[in-house]
Amino acid sequence: MKTCGAPSFRHPIVLWGPFQCEVWHLFGPIFVGAARYLYKISLFLYTAYMRISLTGIKPTGILHIGNYFGAIQPALKLAETYDARYFIADYHALNSVKDDKELWSNTMAVAAGWLASGLDPNKVIFYRQSSIPETFELTTILMAFTGKGLLNRAHAYKAVVQANLEKNSDPDAGVNMGLFTYPVLMAADILLFDSDVVPVGQDQSQHVEMAADIAQAVNFNYRKELLKVPQALVQEHVAVIPGLDGQKMSKSYGNTIPLFSSEKQLHKLIMRIVTNSQGVDEPKDPDSSQIYQMYTLFADVEEQAVLAARYRTGGMGWGEAKEELFRVVNRTLTPLRNRFEEIMADTKKLETILAEGAEKARVIARETVRRIRDAIGIR
Ligand code: TRP
Repeated sequence: MKTCGAPSFRHPIVLWGPFQCEVWHLFGPIFVGAARYLYKISLFLYTAYMRISLTGIKPTGILHIGNYFGAIQPALKLAETYDARYFIADYHALNSVKDDKELWSNTMAVAAGWLASGLDPNKVIFYRQSSIPETFELTTILMAFTGKGLLNRAHAYKAVVQANLEKNSDPDAGVNMGLFTYPVLMAADILLFDSDVVPVGQDQSQHVEMAADIAQAVNFNYRKELLKVPQALVQEHVAVIPGLDGQKMSKSYGNTIPLFSSEKQLHKLIMRIVTNSQGVDEPKDPDSSQIYQMYTLFADVEEQAVLAARYRTGGMGWGEAKEELFRVVNRTLTPLRNRFEEIMADTKKLETILAEGAEKARVIARETVRRIRDAIGIR
């Protein structure tokens, strides 16, 4: 049997038999080369055909726990398998935030919040809507394909009109054109980036459907697939996060726990959670308690079982349950809060990250607008 001298560990494939050396020396490098080549091709194809996930975050306030579990976490999970484009919808926020300092600081805080929650700007294209002028050109184009009747039916606009009618005010009181045309700007955000899926809360699914309608109107007119028709991805399995008063946690109900509140503030807010009047000794039902519901988001399975058992046995008062809830919430949020504060301490760096994201986004946006201008006869 032939030997090849010192064994080589360069090729981690072991071949047996009398022809070990000849076979290996002849075909080994070819085989390894081919495998590497195939790997590269599949990686390229995977990236090229990866589906696109896009969502916008409106900086109208500071992030709260409901945003984290309802939007941030699911979107970041999606970014593991999709080509993700996530942005701060600052021009959408302008419709309601008319104070320059507030708009700016909300924008920075929301961007920092996403990064602190784990968004990796090297993997996700992360930018501000206002940095992409192509969005506004596409908005103008889409306006020509959007029936006024479609916008009349938008829930967000209709809700304001309804509230006005109930107060016997002018139906258009407080309605600016930004609010009325909101779905068109949102359609431009979505269609500009050839989005396949748009992860949103239930309240935004109508807007995504409108974007799909508008895309179809354009495609129909030019008899070609100019714009990709997007699909809303509503996170149905995500539990409704209860707020301090037991209703869904939402900025509009004023019942939120900010994601990055200080330890002291967090403690104070958790102690304010509304409970029923059951005494310490009474057995309690974990499933109907919002303290327990929130606990399940932060505690591991064993901790959950222990707390549920203590509830059922009785002898645990709401105060103690809240202290236990605070312990696990604070445990999870402390590292996030620390990262958030670190990012907010250097907003110049944060702006650089957003500007780099905008550069990447504009490469795609310019190409889409070029394609559409060409198709519609504006050359
Ligand atoms: N309207 C969304 C909201 O209020 C924010 C948003 C703006 C958005 N543009 C978008 C969401 C595009 C998804 C896709 O939450």
